[in-house]
Amino acid sequence: MLGKRARAELKGQKPLILWMTGLSGAGKSTIAGRVEEALWRCGHHTMRLDGDDLRFGLNKDLTFTDAARIENIRRTAEVAKLMLEAGLIVICSLISPFRRERMLARQLVEADEFLEVFVDTPLAECMRRDPKGLYARAVAGQIPHFTGLTSPYEPPEAPEIHLRTDAHDADALAGQVLEALRQRGAIACAP
Ligand code: ADX
Repeated sequence: MLGKRARAELKGQKPLILWMTGLSGAGKSTIAGRVEEALWRCGHHTMRLDGDDLRFGLNKDLTFTDAARIENIRRTAEVAKLMLEAGLIVICSLISPFRRERMLARQLVEADEFLEVFVDTPLAECMRRDPKGLYARAVAGQIPHFTGLTSPYEPPEAPEIHLRTDAHDADALAGQVLEALRQRGAIACAP
């Protein structure tokens, strides 16, 4: 029976999950996109799982209550695991506000297959950027359970990669992720 190793070997890569967590508007999707493009240019086989995108399909039945977010993270982690089994480098970008659920996602795969990436943008900066106008609406009381305001965000305590977005632009931050992958021997090409 064919397994993960055989599928990955054919792709010439080490499959892994990059799990990007952070507030809404932190820059997760943007950085995930840049990381994926760079990996693709290096000849790697990738897939991106974005919270916003998944909520249009697989997760369209889910709201933003704690229970719904827990289920959102669980499903995303299970899909990521399947894609890992297919030999892909999987880039997940969703708020995933709860430490416990991020830990459960990590525990689905082997220790060296999961890298937590903290996209660390302070709430005040996310509110200033407010790319979708959601913070303004949440402050006005129009969106319940809004992360950082009326719903908690638990920052990672020991992420493998810590991106401070106030100091660098998206390309530089993507470069930091690629460099971390290179140092771990997960990719060969220079960022
Ligand atoms: S998660 O908390 O369940 O991981 P997810 O990443 O899938 O969240 O979705 C977050 C996106 O949904 C945000 O970027 C924002 O565009 C939108 N959104 C809508 N309502 C909320 C809310 N109450 N809290 C946070 N994000 C929300």
